Amino acid sequence: MGKFAEMVPERVRALASYVPGKPIRQAEAESGVKMIKLGSNENPFGPSPLAMAAMAEATKSVHLYPDNDSVTLRERLAERHGLQPNQLIVTAGSTYLLDLLARALLSPGLNAVTSERSFIAYPIVTGSAGAALRQVPVRNDGFDLDAISDAIDSDTRLVFIANPNNPTGTMISARELDRFLDRLPENVVVALDEAYYDYAECLARERGVEYSHSVNYVRQERSVVVLRTFSKAYGLAAARVGYGMGPAELLNYVARLKSAFIVSSVAEAGALAALDDHEHYDKSMRNNSEQLPLMMRQLRELGYAPVESWANFIYIETGEDASTLGKRLQMNGVIVRPLTGSWGARTAIRMTVGSPEENRKFIDALKSVTSGAHAR
Ligand SMILES: Cc1ncc(COP(=O)(O)O)c(C=O)c1O
Repeated sequence: MGKFAEMVPERVRALASYVPGKPIRQAEAESGVKMIKLGSNENPFGPSPLAMAAMAEATKSVHLYPDNDSVTLRERLAERHGLQPNQLIVTAGSTYLLDLLARALLSPGLNAVTSERSFIAYPIVTGSAGAALRQVPVRNDGFDLDAISDAIDSDTRLVFIANPNNPTGTMISARELDRFLDRLPENVVVALDEAYYDYAECLARERGVEYSHSVNYVRQERSVVVLRTFSKAYGLAAARVGYGMGPAELLNYVARLKSAFIVSSVAEAGALAALDDHEHYDKSMRNNSEQLPLMMRQLRELGYAPVESWANFIYIETGEDASTLGKRLQMNGVIVRPLTGSWGARTAIRMTVGSPEENRKFIDALKSVTSGAHAR
């Protein structure tokens, strides 16, 4: 133990670090080959061109502090969703908002509830608030809302629901969620994490299913905070901008915990412009809708049983050690996400649906590093 172990509280020492998808530069340096990244569910077409132009323009003012409340973006989003600006909070990515919600609502002795095999930020933000996280077993690879309800007790303050779920890509329908919320006790807030909302909404429309009417919960002033991000469909992952919609009173408390000036003026300008870039958005949605079923089919033909996805990624049970497989794929120029460690699925990988060319490269790499059947 180093000399700081006694100074740093046990709850901090016990935290697992967030392990991000491997950056391209690092993977290329390790493997010596040119790399494509299908490990972090980013947009294969890059940032929206309108956002890039707006961000370049915004750099002219980076000597000035940004608007601490991102008022322009907040008002724009409020109008877009039919809400009041005080029902919205803009943060540096939605991960940061998860952290703020945990710190606002949790403390030692209290708990949060979520599913096993869900987003790895939930244990981290809960642990950093000093609270316990109850992770209930998955049902059909996704959230088991009955088990979540059963796990809630009088010390529960927060429930994390990823819809669609990362990493399994499963979706909870609007009706199922309505039923769950109707049974929710008064002492609990639901963090409804819709990071992949755009993809799910688009796929659900095509499949004739009602995915989410989450903004209605906010209009009805339910104890729900809906989280969205500009990191995925809008291609702004490195700009760090996301937002939450929820009860004005709660968001007012949450905002007090926010670091000052956490959302840069460059990020705010990028987000505003991305909202107007329908061409880039539609192209991204179209690509996912076309490539997702194609990838599913090809994976099945190779003997895998990928989980039906409602997002821009696919969960694949490989029947072998995922980190070894990930390394072999990386030697062939493809970064995927082995779901080892906190993800809790040591034989599964998650691949982002990329551009047609990237997806071909992934399938070729997978074929060349594996052999035989992979049924689960
Ligand atoms: C379920 C889920 N929530 C939130 C995020 C965080 O997105 P960001 O912090 O970039 O907005 C991600 C990113 O992978 C995610 O998968």
